[in-house]
Amino acid sequence: MAFRLEMGPRTAHISPLKGRYVLDVGCGNGYHMWRMLGEGAELTVGIDPSELFLVQFEAIRRLMGNDQRAHLLPLGIEKLPELKAFDTVFSMGVLYHRRSPLDHLIQLKNQLVKNGELVLETLVIDGDENAVLVPFDRYAQMHNVYFFPSAKALKVWLEKVGFVDVRIVDECVTTTDEQRTTDWMTHNSLPDYLDPNDPTKTVEGYPAPKRAVLVAKNPD
Ligand SMILES: C[S@@+](CC[C@H](N)C(=O)[O-])C[C@H]1O[C@@H](n2cnc3c(N)ncnc32)[C@H](O)[C@@H]1O
Repeated sequence: MAFRLEMGPRTAHISPLKGRYVLDVGCGNGYHMWRMLGEGAELTVGIDPSELFLVQFEAIRRLMGNDQRAHLLPLGIEKLPELKAFDTVFSMGVLYHRRSPLDHLIQLKNQLVKNGELVLETLVIDGDENAVLVPFDRYAQMHNVYFFPSAKALKVWLEKVGFVDVRIVDECVTTTDEQRTTDWMTHNSLPDYLDPNDPTKTVEGYPAPKRAVLVAKNPD
């Protein structure tokens, strides 16, 4: 299958993936791994504890001519040994699902080679270095959610566990144009999880979803 994929302008903030070994933590069905190969990565490894995603990934691999440059392991990050093998590690949409976010950051660091790069994307709130939201129960109807720091607090957390050159490269409110139902995804989506009278709030009364991307270097 002809497959030409390019990422958007936000890739300007990260080291080019050409020739790199890449780990995608919480890779879902592996969609981004194919995009990373499209950017020239040498090898992409994804980990995600959901076995359904492994099956979906292997089905796509079959359609992609049995491409062996991408692999998905059905593991949580906490089960992975400290490989220190990857030039770039992505963690996108995972941190708020981890009960111990600093341990998550340490586990990500332990997968990187010296001077390797972490690309971290997660839900954040507005506020200073000490701002963090811990939802009492659900957030935008999601279970299993723990810590939503401000981007500035997340920068401090990354520095605290030993990352350097930490940069906040993007912060944006998730729009209902971006996260919505489609012909292919017919179940509820973001508009159903926002307060109908005030879309700046979730149905639980928390700030509506905002995401940040931070990039950091492992000096060790
Ligand atoms: C919100 S989704 C994000 C998927 C994808 N990274 C993206 O940005 O589209 C979170 C993913 O993290 C995975 N996940 C949950 N706990 C994890 C863990 N301990 N280690 C790795 N992945 C995990 C979930 O199975 C799910 O696929």
